[in-house]
Amino acid sequence: MKRFAEKVVVVTGASRGIGQAICAAFAREGAKVAGVARGDLVETETKVKNAGGEWLGIQADLSASTQAAAAELVGQVLERAGRIDALVNNAGIIRRAPAAEYSEADWNEVLRTNLSAPFFLSQSAAKWWLAAGREKSAAEARLKIVNIASLLSFQGGILVPAYTASKHGLAGVTKALANEWARERINVNAIAPGYIATENTRALREDARRNQAILDRIPENRWGAPEDIAGGCLFLASADSDYLNGAIINIDGGWLGR
Ligand SMILES: NC(=O)c1ccc[n+]([C@@H]2O[C@H](COP(=O)([O-])OP(=O)(O)OC[C@H]3O[C@@H](n4cnc5c(N)ncnc54)[C@H](OP(=O)(O)O)[C@@H]3O)[C@@H](O)[C@H]2O)c1
Repeated sequence: MKRFAEKVVVVTGASRGIGQAICAAFAREGAKVAGVARGDLVETETKVKNAGGEWLGIQADLSASTQAAAAELVGQVLERAGRIDALVNNAGIIRRAPAAEYSEADWNEVLRTNLSAPFFLSQSAAKWWLAAGREKSAAEARLKIVNIASLLSFQGGILVPAYTASKHGLAGVTKALANEWARERINVNAIAPGYIATENTRALREDARRNQAILDRIPENRWGAPEDIAGGCLFLASADSDYLNGAIINIDGGWLGR
């Protein structure tokens, strides 16, 4: 029996990068994966099906995140898949500019996508769990919420004030929700990825000096792969982490230990 057979897992930011690798990893373990993004989800759908999972694609713009939109999205998953066993709040954006010139539009878009959307989606999923979900589930079943935080949940970064604020906020929300919901059989935890080779970090990898400086500081001496994050995500969505609440696990090749 695969670890996530008959489980429904919602993954935001599923069209590429870390989110796509998370979808494929859940699919290999037999999950039904509901993948959310604005763009084309065909590549992820193919990977999920090839890995033996079921697929449910949802096109949505999380930067327009409101409580009502999150409830609508969660409602769509429940209508089409019947339940939610895990929610992975992975979608995120980064906008770089000097703080003195940082635009209001960028500030709002980053905060809405990286912080408001995870909160409202978690809230909607938890509402369903508390009202009906846990009653329909096995006695030991739990709702698992995994937030994808960042090293900038701990550090300040340079030229990315909105991103840093959003990821510090997401770490705080992870703890706040865990404190309230642990007794309700909801686990809320986060992963703080280090430097992972995705679209999000292309500019850094293409800048030879920054690239070398980053590599020099990583004890593993390599960029992480999206699959490095997916393994931790499966752990946080599985029964192996039932006694883990409000934790932020660094998967960073040792960066924060330096
Ligand atoms: N890469 C790293 O080194 C690194 C390090 C620390 C943390 N992280 C975090 O890991 C997460 C994934 O990052 P990544 O590196 O995989 O980035 P990525 O390759 O740029 O992928 C981001 C994903 O989020 C989706 N997304 C962005 N804005 C969205 C919106 N408004 N509505 C719905 N979906 C949206 C994108 O899909 P569409 O564009 O199709 O909507 C895409 O699927 C982010 O939260 C990021 O902050 C990444």
